Amino acid sequence: MQAWVIGNWKQNPATTKDVDALLDTLLTAVADDNTSNVCQLMVAPSCIHLASVSARLQNTSILTAAQDISALSDSSGAYTGDCSAQQVVDAGATWTILGHSERRQYHQESHETLLDKLSHAFTQGLGVVYCIGETQTQYDNKQTFSVLDDQLAVIKDLLIKSKEQAPELVQRLAERLIIAYEPVWAIGTGKVPTVMEVEATHQHIKETVASFDTTLPAMMVLYGGSVNTDNADSFAASPMIDGALVGGASLKADSFLAIAHAFEQAKNKETL
Ligand code: PGA
Repeated sequence: MQAWVIGNWKQNPATTKDVDALLDTLLTAVADDNTSNVCQLMVAPSCIHLASVSARLQNTSILTAAQDISALSDSSGAYTGDCSAQQVVDAGATWTILGHSERRQYHQESHETLLDKLSHAFTQGLGVVYCIGETQTQYDNKQTFSVLDDQLAVIKDLLIKSKEQAPELVQRLAERLIIAYEPVWAIGTGKVPTVMEVEATHQHIKETVASFDTTLPAMMVLYGGSVNTDNADSFAASPMIDGALVGGASLKADSFLAIAHAFEQAKNKETL
């Protein structure tokens, strides 16, 4: 199975010059090392850099994602500061991250908001990397699975709504949804759960999504939160971990590609 390694650049780099420099090193390194098909690379630049990054990656194997889209309209409207799914597609992106914990925390993204965003993304043909994860307190109180169930209920409700109102979205969801499990306490902290903990959680996520609709294909689940060159091998070695969503370490081409290599090699071994 193909692993996915996705770089979430967040509000980085600060300037176009630095974005270009990051892309230069990334593209040179990818061309040099003849990255195989086993690993699908994707980067999510800030909204302002989305069009230029997509243009530069257009004829390469690296996909481009937005980090968010508007909940208010999938196309256009009087929504100051928002960027719609259609605008993101027009800028050249084929995917979007949704529900990242920083959006949930700083922008109070609710169940309803995320339901609308997912629906808009699939309406416009975007793939979705849907992020879920528990906080430190929830982890300490052993609430991880119930928190994830609440966050996954967005998928369940979207399936129900789509079956009634827009059946074509069910097919798009089946083909173009990836879940990223990111414990909030692991993001940017250098702290990570054990591989066994991640495996149990991924199994729970896969089973939960499968229970929503038995016709859905097996859900791809990535791990995110302080993935780096030192720990990537251990996550990659698990058949339950289908790839990584990488923040800090994706801002340097060499560490991003080293993580991709770890997944590529581990998944190659799995298929032998
Ligand atoms: P991190 O971020 O790799 O810097 O912990 C991951 C993320 O927020 O997606």
